[in-house]
Amino acid sequence: MAFKSLSIALLALAVARVANGAVTKRVTCATGQTTANAACCVLFPILDDIQENLFDGGECGEEVHESLRLTFHDAIGFSPTKGICPRLFSYAELLHRGGGADGSIITFDDPETGFPANNGIDDIVDAQTPFIARHNITAGDFIQFAGAVGVSNCPGAPRLQFLLGRPTATAPSPIGLVPEPFDTITSVLERFAEVGFSPAEVVALLASHTIAAADHVDPTIPGTPFDSTPEIFDTQIFIEMQLRGVLFPGDGSNPGQVESPLEGIIRLNTDATLARDDRTSCIWQSFANNQAKMQSEFRAAMAKLAVLGQNTANMVDCSDVIPVPKPVTGKAHLPAGKSMADIEQACATAPFPTLTADPGPQTSVPPVPPS
Ligand code: HEM
Repeated sequence: MAFKSLSIALLALAVARVANGAVTKRVTCATGQTTANAACCVLFPILDDIQENLFDGGECGEEVHESLRLTFHDAIGFSPTKGICPRLFSYAELLHRGGGADGSIITFDDPETGFPANNGIDDIVDAQTPFIARHNITAGDFIQFAGAVGVSNCPGAPRLQFLLGRPTATAPSPIGLVPEPFDTITSVLERFAEVGFSPAEVVALLASHTIAAADHVDPTIPGTPFDSTPEIFDTQIFIEMQLRGVLFPGDGSNPGQVESPLEGIIRLNTDATLARDDRTSCIWQSFANNQAKMQSEFRAAMAKLAVLGQNTANMVDCSDVIPVPKPVTGKAHLPAGKSMADIEQACATAPFPTLTADPGPQTSVPPVPPS
């Protein structure tokens, strides 16, 4: 049976296409779809399964948000200096030793899901584990694949890169590598810098919080989003984060939480501070109302994150399996009841873009429904 599928894949129609002067070979998989490399054919049945049974028919809902968070918490669990003896391994050796985006958060869910910074991540680990068990894919590949597919369900998202070929993790991540919302910006930037991310790339990665909510920052209000449009990959997170904080949406101040601009929105200290710190405020502001810039820089930063600690020379580019996201819906705006006077200008070298508010009185943002 396996031999038959392999033969079909190998005998698959190979089409030589000339596009923009470049010749690309495409194969047609046994399932009918075309892709650049026969090795990517295994992904189409997984794509169908997760769209139907993990993402509720292709929604940009809670499981997509959690799957994107998981890509980060798996990948950032990598350090050239912490948790191992640096004298035994050079950085280059470590890169080839695995770690990072290696699926260890699932393979070694005990202890990783018990780390404080991974609070709540067990939900999506439990949800993804059966999919890995019924398909021929490693946990590391599955986590990044599910993240990229999930993001494609959100209007306005870039089409993320996906490389296939992460080996099974051999050890859990050391504790203490995932940033917490009460960390200082210096420590957040140092943590990311240790694994090769600039401050600009850190801010670009935080575009992820445009399709995000918190269950555990204030456990009395689970599903409270970070911006007013958690089902759309728009720039509202960069706009609304610059509004003056005026209230706590739930039971008051919790660790890592600061005042929000609107009822129904929760704000992390790290996000609010990145939007106001001299090292990052102009980068933060540059994404407000600039969908194309946010898309391309988030895509580039995610491409790095998704292969952190992995040897890309051993991986196959299967990006063409990822669905093309729909364009963004709605226009960049201030929430109803707000005005430009509510913007806390932080960037010293350029003004915040002028935006108009939605009509009507100030409203409360509803929670992201559990599915
Ligand atoms: C300074 C770095 C970061 C900090 C401190 C941080 C912190 C948090 C916290 C506290 C939550 C709420 C968890 C809960 O209570 O349920 C959260 C949610 C989330 N984070 Fe981050 N995060 C950071 C960076 C990132 C990055 C780089 C990504 C992805 C590339 C990401 C993606 C998400 C997503 C998608 C959610 C929403 C999960 C859901 O709705 O269930 N975060 N983050």
